[in-house]
Amino acid sequence: MKITELEIEDEMIHQQAAELLMTASADTAPRAWPDLQSAIVEVQESFGPGKISLVALDRQRVVGWVGAIRQYGGHTWELHPLVVNRNFRRRGIGRALVDAAQSRVLEHGAMTLWVTADDAVGSTSLWGQDLYPDPLHHLQEIRNLNGHPFQFYQKLGFALIGVLPDANGLGKPDIFLAKRVRTIT
Ligand SMILES: CC(C)(COP(=O)(O)OP(=O)(O)OC[C@H]1O[C@@H](n2cnc3c(N)ncnc32)[C@H](O)[C@@H]1OP(=O)(O)O)[C@@H](O)C(=O)NCCC(=O)NCCS
Repeated sequence: MKITELEIEDEMIHQQAAELLMTASADTAPRAWPDLQSAIVEVQESFGPGKISLVALDRQRVVGWVGAIRQYGGHTWELHPLVVNRNFRRRGIGRALVDAAQSRVLEHGAMTLWVTADDAVGSTSLWGQDLYPDPLHHLQEIRNLNGHPFQFYQKLGFALIGVLPDANGLGKPDIFLAKRVRTIT
């Protein structure tokens, strides 16, 4: 497995990355990329200034993809999207992709890497709840019910930093995590 830049002219790899995004996110974010065309648009938008786009290749086949977007004047970058082929999960590819993205944003002078992780399908204890009037209390008590990625990010050193109640409709929150990527001296 190797991690490499998603090249702007490599249309076959674009197609594979789009297919991966559409199929791999179908269970966690079913409405995000409902068809191949919307996933291809996401791939095409992952290039350009202030963007990082990396793929994990297994024998020239895309098995993972991570993007990162420059924000807050470059102090902070958002990971988006991150997907690993179902058949290749729990083998360290997600971690390797995030590590690679982290190295790149560090080269660009970043301080913080952050990510938003929806729960639109009932993967955590926050789903289906009225999180007001104290969303952060609910966040402190969060439990993983069905493989939600927040614990994946925690294993990579991210901290839970917030929750947006009802972000995807009533009882379907978005969960925010962040990590300081630069060593403070
Ligand atoms: C989340 C995702 C990218 C993880 O990729 P992966 O290649 O399986 O992750 P890794 O194998 O690198 O896992 C790194 C660590 O996190 C753990 N981990 C992975 N997924 C996890 C999950 N859903 N819940 C809890 N822990 C998880 C692994 O066990 C491993 O732990 P270890 O270091 O103690 O062995 C992958 O499951 C995926 O593509 N999911 C669908 C899309 C998605 O949810 N993307 C994130 C959107 S915010």
